[in-house]
Amino acid sequence: MIQKAKGTYDIYGDYGKRLLYVEELIEGLMEKYNYEYFRTPIFESSSLFHRGVGDTTDIVTKETYDFKDRGDRDLTLRPEGTAGIVRSYIENKMYGNHNIPVKAWYYGPMFRYERPQSGRYREFYQFGVEAFGSSDALMDAEIISIPVNLYKLLGLKGIKVNINTLGDNESRNNYRNALIEYFKPYINDLCEDCQERYNKNPLRILDCKVDHNLDVMKNAPRTIDYLNETSKEHFENVKKYLDSMNIDYEINTNLVRGLDYYTHTVFEVEASVEGFGSQNVLCGGGRYDNLVETLDGPKTSGVGFAMGMERLMTALEYENVEMPLIDGIDCYVIPMSENEKDYAMHICGDLRLNGFITEIDYNNRNLKNNFKNADKFNSKFIIIIGEQEKDSGILTIKNNGAKEEYKISHDELIDFLDENMGE
Ligand code: HAM
Repeated sequence: MIQKAKGTYDIYGDYGKRLLYVEELIEGLMEKYNYEYFRTPIFESSSLFHRGVGDTTDIVTKETYDFKDRGDRDLTLRPEGTAGIVRSYIENKMYGNHNIPVKAWYYGPMFRYERPQSGRYREFYQFGVEAFGSSDALMDAEIISIPVNLYKLLGLKGIKVNINTLGDNESRNNYRNALIEYFKPYINDLCEDCQERYNKNPLRILDCKVDHNLDVMKNAPRTIDYLNETSKEHFENVKKYLDSMNIDYEINTNLVRGLDYYTHTVFEVEASVEGFGSQNVLCGGGRYDNLVETLDGPKTSGVGFAMGMERLMTALEYENVEMPLIDGIDCYVIPMSENEKDYAMHICGDLRLNGFITEIDYNNRNLKNNFKNADKFNSKFIIIIGEQEKDSGILTIKNNGAKEEYKISHDELIDFLDENMGE
């Protein structure tokens, strides 16, 4: 038997219903925040991710799905959404033909060749947003408020917002130099990857999954001590706006994030319920004021986040969050013989187009088994179509709850159901 590829999963049943409910809520929330829906390709030129996500990140060095197409082009399945959205922003010249800031949201599969475990997949879905063209802290705070408000709408309670700042280019450089000085005597104690990070991007050392428990990591310099005045003021404003929205957060000075492009604010929201498991980061993001330029666009501020849908679904399940899912159908249509199937299908079409969830007997069951089947579907009404009903256009309808039977003409069917569906 052919099995699914490692690190992937199937969706069906109640999980599918719950997921669709969450997706609809996301769509509605994005409408209220007035973000524009973007869909970019699942594969892009490999160089986009090398330059965009960063050559020293685990994502690019160890986790991408790279391939050559039949035209010998180097392509990569996207490991995240930001680089593709930035490419689209630049390629479609949105800096010139859109309202500024451009506020984008997206949803779709991402691919990383990671070691699969609970909450970590090789194909996973992200909901993300990116906003271009405002360097104001208002935008950072708005971005952080999106996942927080989504969790609030869903009724998820056990969450914790961690924030930090890396500062602007000058502050980041000062911090980088401080890290180089600090780690110099300990370089041989670090793992092989970190020794390479030391040369290429020492900030990455703080994000190491191997060395993170070493004392040398715990006592490392903090970004917050290397901020210039502008960076301090930006961070103070972010905090002020978060306070004004009553959003609780903690400042975590070790938070640097696993991608190279961040400046100023970085943040993560984690599930802070006991026993949730190690993959508890529900979403993460931050500001990236250099990325558009790095990818050959005009100098443009950017800020965004992405949320892992699988971890969100696990958190909702973990907290037993209830959802108003549709349970049962409106009508179950029974053609009594081969001769009535065409008329029954006609009725089904009418019902479905008028908004009623409708099933028909596809399997030539006898009447008794059809009644049982209608019960399994938890159908509110049963519509029986025999020879007489087809000839006269007067239908036999049973209210499956009250067990009452009605004779209703085809013309009045929709009005009748509209009036009686609530019973
Ligand atoms: P990221 O932290 O790499 O950031 O991923 C964001 C979220 O995607 C994570 O917090 C996690 O919930 C989920 N995630 C990541 N990898 C996996 C995986 N292998 N399996 C399941 N879930 C996963 C980014 O991707 C940035 N593009 C976020 C961003 C947008 N920053 C600015 N704008």
